[in-house]
Amino acid sequence: MQKRTLGNSGLEVSAIGLGCMGLSFGYGPATEKQQAITLIRTAYERGVTFFDSAEAYGPYKNEELLGEALAPFRDKVVIATKFGFDFNAEGGQSGLNSRPQHIRAVAEAALKRLNTDVIDLLYQHRVDPAVPIEDVAGTVKDLIAEGKVKHFGLSEAGSQTIRRAHAVQPVAALQSEYSLWWREPEGDILPVLEELGIGFVPFSPLGKGFLTGAINAQTTFDDKDFRNTVPRFSTEAREANQALVDLLGEIASAKQVTPAQIALAWLLAQKPWIVPIPGTTKLNRLEENIGAAAVVLSADDLAAIEDAVSKVTVQGDRYPAHLQARINR
Ligand SMILES: NC(=O)c1ccc[n+]([C@@H]2O[C@H](COP(=O)([O-])OP(=O)(O)OC[C@H]3O[C@@H](n4cnc5c(N)ncnc54)[C@H](OP(=O)(O)O)[C@@H]3O)[C@@H](O)[C@H]2O)c1
Repeated sequence: MQKRTLGNSGLEVSAIGLGCMGLSFGYGPATEKQQAITLIRTAYERGVTFFDSAEAYGPYKNEELLGEALAPFRDKVVIATKFGFDFNAEGGQSGLNSRPQHIRAVAEAALKRLNTDVIDLLYQHRVDPAVPIEDVAGTVKDLIAEGKVKHFGLSEAGSQTIRRAHAVQPVAALQSEYSLWWREPEGDILPVLEELGIGFVPFSPLGKGFLTGAINAQTTFDDKDFRNTVPRFSTEAREANQALVDLLGEIASAKQVTPAQIALAWLLAQKPWIVPIPGTTKLNRLEENIGAAAVVLSADDLAAIEDAVSKVTVQGDRYPAHLQARINR
């Protein structure tokens, strides 16, 4: 697979990474361990060198999984993980925590779980209003100086926060939601990233599965699936948003590719420093998603996609209200 560099950081990764969250967390029961290891190793064999995790995925279990799965080729891959939460006894997130001491403790624990002596990319998972971003950036700067971390990232940070953090420790990448049904970063985020030379890692690039056409208003989710709480996945919203998937499906058929590949190729076509990280638990979908790196969208294709998107007003918030409140704008 082609490689891309995240902004001016020099951090080179496969054009499409693997979002590993769903293997342990978020979308129903965790994938059986050997199956998950096979999926991660197959991704590497197919050219994926960028693997995304977080302390919160499990919590802890996803980092442990990556530590085991990636051990045979640790020096050939880039592992990204995240800090920024406290957890209750049941493993639920009990609040934000980016205090310097906590960041250090999480980084040390993540190094052990990931079975490595350096974290390639360490993101703050959500901006913590209780801790100045300069203190967060300064702490990661110290971890970089100590050789425990290579690069610093932010997630769902607003443009002012990005500027302030970057002034203390250059930010290699911002990881925020961006896809054909969530284009807010095109406002003030992408211009700031371009100006400062920061790479962009769109999460949920397949719209949490919806943009692939595999989900419709009749789909039922596992009791533990986070999408049960997302307004954009209410039955009414799915009914309304189906029109977008249908239009994208027509464009995909005409190009003899799949809707998932259109969604990923569209992101790749936006900027050369964008690296989406689709998540899947299934080998056939992994192949399909990796295949998107070879899909070239012409100016006419991009215009047809733009036209399709302009015809549908997407219904439903992308997060329930209590989680939306954590987004830094
Ligand atoms: N920074 C943050 O706050 C944040 C938030 C969310 C996610 N993330 C990261 O971003 C990664 C990706 O985001 P995401 O998992 O939320 O959403 P996504 O990649 O947009 O979609 C994942 C969902 O789509 C399904 N899927 C994947 N490929 C498919 C295909 N080709 N055809 C049909 N269905 C397909 C998967 O189901 P199957 O498993 O059944 O294939 C899964 O339910 C995560 O793994 C995580 O690493 C970060």
